[in-house]
Amino acid sequence: MDVFVIEGGRKLSGSLRIKGSKNAALPLLAATLLTDEPVTLRDVPDLSDIRNMYRLLGELGVEVVPETDSEIPSVHLKVTDDSNHHARYDIVKTMRASICVLGPILAKRGHARVSMPGGCAIGQRPVDLHLRGLEALGAKITLEGGDIVAKVPQSGRLIGATVFLGGPFGSTVLGTANVMSAATLAQGTTIIECAACEPEIVDLANMLIGMGAKITGAGSPRITIEGVEELGGVDHTIIPDRIEAGTFMCAAAITNSTLTLTNCPLDAMMSATDRLEAIGVHIDPTDQAQTADPLRRTCTVSATGSLKPIQITTQPHPGFPTDLQAQFMALLCFADGNSVITEKIFPERFLHVAELTRMGSSIHRHGTTAVISGVKTMTGAPVMASDLRASAGLVLAAMAAQGTTIINRVYHIDRGYERLEHRLASVGASIQRLSEEEVAELGLMVE
Ligand code: EPZ
Repeated sequence: MDVFVIEGGRKLSGSLRIKGSKNAALPLLAATLLTDEPVTLRDVPDLSDIRNMYRLLGELGVEVVPETDSEIPSVHLKVTDDSNHHARYDIVKTMRASICVLGPILAKRGHARVSMPGGCAIGQRPVDLHLRGLEALGAKITLEGGDIVAKVPQSGRLIGATVFLGGPFGSTVLGTANVMSAATLAQGTTIIECAACEPEIVDLANMLIGMGAKITGAGSPRITIEGVEELGGVDHTIIPDRIEAGTFMCAAAITNSTLTLTNCPLDAMMSATDRLEAIGVHIDPTDQAQTADPLRRTCTVSATGSLKPIQITTQPHPGFPTDLQAQFMALLCFADGNSVITEKIFPERFLHVAELTRMGSSIHRHGTTAVISGVKTMTGAPVMASDLRASAGLVLAAMAAQGTTIINRVYHIDRGYERLEHRLASVGASIQRLSEEEVAELGLMVE
């Protein structure tokens, strides 16, 4: 397993282009199962989760042809064989987001068998709302040998209905994607109440509309879908990744540096930029607001002087995203006072706390709340990446700590940040990827 070796204390400068969003790309890729016509997706990030989705689509009879030789990679997809209905455990266990093929296979092929995803490092992650939503559209759902088996009613199509998708922690992003995708081919009108409002849902709706779906209200808690008989092909560019953008903003802030970000989805990340400004970080768009695409801006992010402590509560969009909680916690380790972070989406998403503590932070967790008392310095240490965003938090802390940090299990980072070490090194960070053999040769301490 590869590790990152990071020397802290380097200033950053220069420019980074934000890549296409992983969490938009995954349900968009799954939605290609809804049509027999060719689909092209542009600005698809080159990540292990995306490659896993290609593998799954391949098994489900989709011809997948990635084009990776340009700066903005695309992929061409076309269903060539619709006989397989089964998303196997082997793939689903490596990537929970495989669940988003359920709605598309069910709606298009009449029945679907998708391995039930297990829990993961950020806690228990049920899919009851996905199933409740599809059942409301008439699907008959059973659990067989660890697989979700779903069938459309005898009429041969799902039937539009009003579906409530609220759960104990608000709505569900991939549940909304599943039900909205399935409803595009249902008979009649579906209304999703308490729909997720995330920008990734809006992007999926825009792609589906491009394929001929009739959808209104995406981005609000009520989405209306009027079913159509079939969908066509589309050429669609994926929105930039707001979580990657927020992570790079934290990188500028934690190293007291200035970075320019291009292709930055400022309009989709106001809760994050609001919190950064409260910390004392400046975010200045440098393009023309009147003519720029609000999801593809150019801005400079700069931090000079001390960081102010703040309070953060994670919430569904447009609230503060849980996927930036760990990165902001790393940043607040260096604030001038006590900050409070409350996690309201995934109550167990605090695995980074123990690792940050190994590096000298002062964090006290009480249930779903963590109190972070800022320290003047942290020191490099061997630490363990536990999940994607926790690992990103450790990379940030390491860039600001004194000395060397070795981050183990960086495959978690490769799931969601494309060539993170190259991109951070290109703006001045001292970060290197070493293989297991190189680590052994150098006699470095790994866990
Ligand atoms: C998406 O996961 C993202 N994944 C996650 O990003 C993100 O953290 C999460 O949304 C919240 O924003 C992808 O888009 C691929 P949810 P999703 O269903 O859709 C509960 C990352 O790091 N819930 O919106 O699976 C659930 O337990 C990843 O990139 C139910 O109770 O999350 C949670 O508390 C990690 N029943 C809350 O809802 C359900 O049926 C929100 O989860 C479904 C969810």
